[in-house]
Amino acid sequence: MTRIRSPRFQSKVMSADDAAALISDGDQVGFSGFTGSGYPKAVPGALARRVEAARAGGDNLQVGLCTGASTAPECDGELAGAGSISFRMPYQSDPVMRNAINAGDIDYIDMHLSHSGPVVRHGFLGPMDVAVVEITAVTPDGALIPSSSIGNNTVWLETARKVILEVNSWQSEDLEGMHDVYTAVHTPPHNVPIPLVEPGDRIGTPTLHVDPDKVIAVVPTDAPDRNTPFKEIDADSATIGNLYVDFLLHEVKQGRLPQSLLPLQSGVGNIANAVLGGLLAHPDLGHLTSYTEVIQDGMVDLIDAGKLDVASATAFSLSPEAAVKMNDRADFYRKHIVLRPQEISNSPEVIRRLGVLTCNGIVEADIYGNINSTHIMGSRMQNGIGGSGDFTRNAYISAFVTPSTAKGGAISCIVPMVSHHDHTEHDVMVVITEQGVADLRGLAPRKRAQEIIKVAHPAYRPMLEEYVERAARNANGAHTPHDLAQALSWHVRMLQTGSMLPA
Ligand code: COA
Repeated sequence: MTRIRSPRFQSKVMSADDAAALISDGDQVGFSGFTGSGYPKAVPGALARRVEAARAGGDNLQVGLCTGASTAPECDGELAGAGSISFRMPYQSDPVMRNAINAGDIDYIDMHLSHSGPVVRHGFLGPMDVAVVEITAVTPDGALIPSSSIGNNTVWLETARKVILEVNSWQSEDLEGMHDVYTAVHTPPHNVPIPLVEPGDRIGTPTLHVDPDKVIAVVPTDAPDRNTPFKEIDADSATIGNLYVDFLLHEVKQGRLPQSLLPLQSGVGNIANAVLGGLLAHPDLGHLTSYTEVIQDGMVDLIDAGKLDVASATAFSLSPEAAVKMNDRADFYRKHIVLRPQEISNSPEVIRRLGVLTCNGIVEADIYGNINSTHIMGSRMQNGIGGSGDFTRNAYISAFVTPSTAKGGAISCIVPMVSHHDHTEHDVMVVITEQGVADLRGLAPRKRAQEIIKVAHPAYRPMLEEYVERAARNANGAHTPHDLAQALSWHVRMLQTGSMLPA
């Protein structure tokens, strides 16, 4: 049976090329898509081809691109490769897009994911011209069944003047009922509290709403989500995962956490996924819940093992194998998974109230607990802050995980001063490397430095100790001693010699 069950929408069916032709130079476009799931599969490529054809004919065509978060090579990659994008927000992880951003060809605004919808609602970025949103099906009365992510779709569908829908028959029809679309989000002073008190609460509707008069095109597709496989969990990642679990169990023993813990948030990346493996392996843990942004493989494994009762997120971020499993068994997983708009999954108010335990990957941490999640050597954008700030700032316990070194030991991930600030010392409670756990709660800066140096790699520990001593001497004591002439000298040495270690 066709997925487009409303005659009103059937009359708008057209090819991706025809739909892309309805997008104009200078348009601000809101795409669906969040960490490789639920992004439009056909219109982006068609738009990229149109841009190339326009350029060959001497014309310019560029759009501003807003999404939920990262998409995939056939979306972010093709559009960036064709030079179609003038502006991008809020999170990306595509290598072609990343290079174009770092070359200065694309203006990239890296913002908290919880802010990305509201700034558009409030009109701070100007009008939204077109929404291009992947869905699973259109019901006979014109409601939209979401696909494998919701992200900012509610915002794009509400604010855009024109809407293009991609109806993807690869997505399982059994996703219907997994989503909880809460739309009572307004601009102040008309906001109301979000009535969500448990991670599994359903407070909205299972479908998205769109004004049918705004729909200018409906494009049928059948392409899979293109997710990146996770790396094999290596020894260091497994150690970090186990250390985090031991830390949480210690908190249980101290009476600061219940045995079923509090809702877990797990960030993107390989280490964060390995942490979930640590939870899976532990015999004492069960009846866990999750209030997070993306469902990764490790979380699906926890559901399969009967250890995770409910997971709330806005999207899947699965390996290709796990994505197929999710599609085949969506009717089972929808009993345990709720997908929400990112305004809700990342809502600081809700995260703080639920008491979420957050765990995110980083680029580097400094001796006082400041964190760089985004920039390599201070200048080069890697992915973006994503939701790590939404969760960290509002966590019950905020943890960050990282190997103590990168690039085969040439880089220490614990440095005197971070080369870019994403999370400040005020928000960071725990830093974990394969060397151990630095628990910064209740420590003043100098004591924090001692605690953090313990989890640096042994090759860098004496250098950090020496830095701290010199900084205290040079700053004549002081509350947070730094030797400003030397604070970033490790990064400078890395850029000059290829290693932070002295020759
Ligand atoms: N200095 C320089 N390069 C570093 C580095 C450092 N201190 N630490 C890591 N890198 C490099 C790695 O070598 C790797 O390079 P490569 O791609 O050339 O191999 C790259 O950065 C990614 O590192 P990797 O170890 O594969 O990290 P990861 O998959 O665990 O991801 C982040 C780490 C920080 C990139 C990732 O967690 C991220 O994007 N975080 C920000 C967003 C976020 O936290 N979202 C979650 C919110 S819900």
